[in-house]
Amino acid sequence: MEIPQNECIVLAARPSGLPEAACWRLECRDVPPVIPGQVLVEVDTISIDPAMRAWMDEFCYLGCVELNQPMWAFGIGRVVDSASPDFEPGDTVRGLLGVQRYSLIAGDELETLEISDEPHSWHLGIFGMPGLTGYFGMTDLVQPRPGQQVLVSTAAGAVGSVVAQLAKRAGARVVGIAGGTDKNRFCLDELGLDACVDYKAANYEQNLAAALPDGVDIYFDNVGVPTLDMALRLMNECGTVIACGAINQFQHMDRVEGPTEYLKIPERKLSFLGFTCFHYLERFHEGVTALRALVERGELVFKEDIAIGLANFPEHFLKQFTGQNQGKLILKP
Ligand SMILES: NC(=O)c1ccc[n+]([C@@H]2O[C@H](COP(=O)([O-])OP(=O)(O)OC[C@H]3O[C@@H](n4cnc5c(N)ncnc54)[C@H](OP(=O)(O)O)[C@@H]3O)[C@@H](O)[C@H]2O)c1
Repeated sequence: MEIPQNECIVLAARPSGLPEAACWRLECRDVPPVIPGQVLVEVDTISIDPAMRAWMDEFCYLGCVELNQPMWAFGIGRVVDSASPDFEPGDTVRGLLGVQRYSLIAGDELETLEISDEPHSWHLGIFGMPGLTGYFGMTDLVQPRPGQQVLVSTAAGAVGSVVAQLAKRAGARVVGIAGGTDKNRFCLDELGLDACVDYKAANYEQNLAAALPDGVDIYFDNVGVPTLDMALRLMNECGTVIACGAINQFQHMDRVEGPTEYLKIPERKLSFLGFTCFHYLERFHEGVTALRALVERGELVFKEDIAIGLANFPEHFLKQFTGQNQGKLILKP
């Protein structure tokens, strides 16, 4: 079959802080022939996630993107050529396909997706990594009880909104943290949270304390310090802090800061639990089934922020660090 040239976004330079435009280059490259074991995928939906910022550094725990190579990203696409016994042209697949139009990838790094009528993007968002992170965080790692006080940061975002809604369904009193009036309104009016605090407004810490007069039993941390320190000061005895992410630290990954309120952990007999959704890889099917049932009943709200065109990647990517994204960031090449 004849394959047009591949268009891709390559990592041109490693960033210091948030990536500037000079970190990226849009290139056209020949697609090499498919060799045994490989699959050629035409990418139709690309996921943009905070973790991608870590993959740009040389010392990321998962390994890193090589300079002048296509930027890594999870994505979904259609098999157009296969030299793997597990895939055939026409299959819909998901994997680390990269920020590009065509991905030549080992078959054992791909999974076949069973998709009904829903958009592919849902399998990168609500039924993908963020949705499953929220699901397993709130159903397995901790199980909020009626009357408990649950605090969630990035509450309007892809992970946080799932966490907040599941905690609410479990009967907890849920307080979100989000940036700006619109996102605070979204959390109150559409996610149904009991209170929401704007971390970008004046008197943030006082407002947080005022929204949590009975303290915090479970804090789901997506941002790291200084919010993590504020939450630790509000934690109730025997409370639980979930370390899910630290988006406030992504700008200086070489010197990630921990909490200065560290001693609240022993003083208040707190549990500090860390996890990634990949610790639940073998239970993803169960998670998707549960999330799908909620979505089908209209009991789980989620938003997507979709851009079109690889050239828009640099700008779209930055939105997650400035809060300009309105839901799960997706790029259609
Ligand atoms: N452990 C895991 O397996 C796992 C999996 C997926 C994601 N995560 C983590 O979960 C967190 C949220 O990811 P997501 O994919 O759901 O993204 P998201 O919440 O949809 O987008 C990121 C949001 O983070 C907020 N933000 C950015 N910089 C911030 C800062 N300095 N302080 C406070 N808030 C800030 C912004 O919200 P506002 O508009 O409210 O400012 C922004 O919209 C990240 O820390 C990510 O690394 C962990």
